[in-house]
Amino acid sequence: MHIAILGRQPAISIAELERVYGDVSWFSEISALVQPSAEADYIDIQRLGGSQKAGKVVLQVPGRDWRAASLKIVQHYSKAWAKKDGKITLGISAYGFSEGPRDIQKTGLVLKSKLKPTGTSLRLIPNQEAALSTATSHHNKLGLADNKVELIVVKGQSGIVIAESTGAQNITALAARDQGRPKRDAFVGMLPPKLAQIMINLAGLEKGLILDPFCGTGVILQEGLLMGYNVFGSDIAEKMISYTEANIQWLENNHDFKNQTAEWTVGDATTTTWQSNINDTPQKLKIDAVVAEGYLGQPFSAPPSNSKLTEVRGNTNHILSEFLKNLAGQIEPGTPVVFGVPAWKDIDGRFTHLPLLTKVEDLGFSYVELRNVRPDQLLYFRPDQIVAREILVLVKN
Ligand SMILES: C[S@@+](CC[C@H](N)C(=O)[O-])C[C@H]1O[C@@H](n2cnc3c(N)ncnc32)[C@H](O)[C@@H]1O
Repeated sequence: MHIAILGRQPAISIAELERVYGDVSWFSEISALVQPSAEADYIDIQRLGGSQKAGKVVLQVPGRDWRAASLKIVQHYSKAWAKKDGKITLGISAYGFSEGPRDIQKTGLVLKSKLKPTGTSLRLIPNQEAALSTATSHHNKLGLADNKVELIVVKGQSGIVIAESTGAQNITALAARDQGRPKRDAFVGMLPPKLAQIMINLAGLEKGLILDPFCGTGVILQEGLLMGYNVFGSDIAEKMISYTEANIQWLENNHDFKNQTAEWTVGDATTTTWQSNINDTPQKLKIDAVVAEGYLGQPFSAPPSNSKLTEVRGNTNHILSEFLKNLAGQIEPGTPVVFGVPAWKDIDGRFTHLPLLTKVEDLGFSYVELRNVRPDQLLYFRPDQIVAREILVLVKN
């Protein structure tokens, strides 16, 4: 059994885990228990956009207080690590407890003093918070070698879980992919790479070709390539396609995608027939999944007036519905479609949704049922944003 520490929006993170690993359930408000397949008893954290850390569960403790967890850690590891050659680096991260960083750190110090007489030397990572930040875990390579350990201790409804980390999200690589790309465009609103990974994973596709018909600067195509898929992007704006091209070429400078295909073309998603030109003669594109952040309408820095909202909502609803109609005729039944659409937040924090949300059946699609979340929980936004992205996880009927 493994545990994942979920990201800023836990419902979206657990939905991603469920689509990738199947056997997933809530453990606490910020964590999930995951049983990966028997062959691969491992959570690949670098493939997940929504989880911060993952670990293999080594101990379970009944009860809910930190003292019980702390005693168990000291008891178990003072035996397991006695007389160890070489230095062990240890970080302890506690989630869901009321104790502060000093209390958590104290457990490490007690363990250190118990190990000292056996000859084992322990380097303890200081706790600024009860849980080490993802950055600290990542920079110290915790979980990536036998002697670099992070204990992830989580309080859940049914007791306490103690896990050994198998890695934290590589925030350096994510930032480099986001900020290092040669072409960026704040106006169209680029997707954060993490969210692109989440959306791709929500498709639940093992391998094959992903189509993004609103590809913009190409973030979904970029992340799709890195995850091993073939990709095809289209966008109505020639400028955006030139950005996609520059960004993918930049990525190809440092990665080898020679067994994969990547194509892009200018096209209006409401009318285009997607065709591949990879073999020089145009052929109907075989689409295994569609992952796209659709047209979101204009950006807003303050809630729009009612009349403005009605206009933008009507306009985007029309384009995105026409796209779904056009797409329905070009994909096989069972094809997953993960579609990010706009929702607008008002001054009271309530969201206005697109009318098409209740019309997907008429357009030829159904919502994919998830066990751990309802469809309306898949709303991605930052507190300061007016336009949120509502993620629809659909399947072609
Ligand atoms: C929100 S942006 C997508 C951004 C993209 N995910 C990225 O990371 O750069 C929406 C894109 O849809 C494109 N677009 C708008 N209407 C379109 C249409 N009818 N067909 C295809 N693309 C369209 C815009 O040019 C824009 O690039």
